[in-house]
Amino acid sequence: MTSTAVALSAAPAREEAAARAEARFVESFGYAPDGVWSAPGRVNIIGEHVDYQDGLCLPMAISHRCFAAAARTPTDRVRLRSVQDDVVLDLDAQQLEPGAVEGWPAYVAGVLWALRPYISGAVTQGMDILIDGQVPLGAGLSSSAALECAAAEAIEALLGLGTTRLQRVRAAITAETDFAGASTGGLDQSASVLSRAGHALFLDCRDFSTRPVPWDLASQGLALLITDTRAEHSHVDGEYTARRADSERAAAELGVATLRDAAVADVERIADPLVRRRAHHVVTEIQRVREFDELLAAGTVRENVAALGTLLNASHDSLRDDYEVTVPQLDVAVDAARDAGAHGARMTGGGFGGSTIALIEADAAEQVASTIAAAFAEQGFTAPQFFLALPEEGAGQDR
Ligand code: GLA
Repeated sequence: MTSTAVALSAAPAREEAAARAEARFVESFGYAPDGVWSAPGRVNIIGEHVDYQDGLCLPMAISHRCFAAAARTPTDRVRLRSVQDDVVLDLDAQQLEPGAVEGWPAYVAGVLWALRPYISGAVTQGMDILIDGQVPLGAGLSSSAALECAAAEAIEALLGLGTTRLQRVRAAITAETDFAGASTGGLDQSASVLSRAGHALFLDCRDFSTRPVPWDLASQGLALLITDTRAEHSHVDGEYTARRADSERAAAELGVATLRDAAVADVERIADPLVRRRAHHVVTEIQRVREFDELLAAGTVRENVAALGTLLNASHDSLRDDYEVTVPQLDVAVDAARDAGAHGARMTGGGFGGSTIALIEADAAEQVASTIAAAFAEQGFTAPQFFLALPEEGAGQDR
């Protein structure tokens, strides 16, 4: 197989990025912020398209983060700016309603709106917020969850609400589903807030309980290569909603609240072959997460690398064949990674574009990346972008 020279990009160092956000705040608002908070993007290692069926997921936070430099003001005005575009918004905190704010500011305003139950009526909610989002946009790496979760950390600290991490996760989810109007399942916000450095996050979406799982690839000579396929997300929202509806139909037909309560044998009873395949993905994917977790409890990633890779591959194949959420770019990236010797590879996130991950030997990163790049060139696809994913700490204060 041919290979092509590639660059493995890295996220900006966290401290420098936080200092930059603080400096931009000063430029924008003319005074120093009270603090800088940030939240990371994520990759999902396994457990895809199961969160909205009470399933199990295993995400990790990545090095790319969204920063929020912010200060409280003695008013009820919320002023929002971002380094990434020219939008300058001045909102009345008391007048926030779903549908009233559009674009990225809806994710910030939505979090303030969703945190209302924790805000005493007499408290003024004025604040100035400068956003510096460094999670690649449209790459399926949860740039919007990172934005919501960075905003939630800042608002919590500025208003002294006393919310728990889980309450902030739920507020970020509500902001996305009820305020911004994207009906996603909670995986992304949980990963962004609750992930621990050096660990993957075992997430049970039935009650959003979590447990850190050791996932220190670097010390074992392994790495997780992210490929942003840069495939255009087309019809993403409609297709995502359609898959959710298929899963709900399957659960209803089986007489269970969600597919978490169904076994593979039950799925065979579903009459419609398409709905049966959708349910087959969800039920087998939840089982794969269980097996993945058991392997990690039984030994190191290195000791189990072949079996873990087989589960990653099976996850992708199920998303391609049963759930039908891949696009040619995702399949080509996965096939090329496997051809280049990856232990396992799969799409990550919602699909229909976005990114893939490959579990590889650390010293093979450039070779695997260049094999993928060559396969893309051969197909005439836009050149992909590559990152190495280190498991980082979830949302918190930087300065
Ligand atoms: C998107 C959604 C998540 C989850 C994944 C698929 O990332 O935001 O809630 O459903 O797709 O696993």
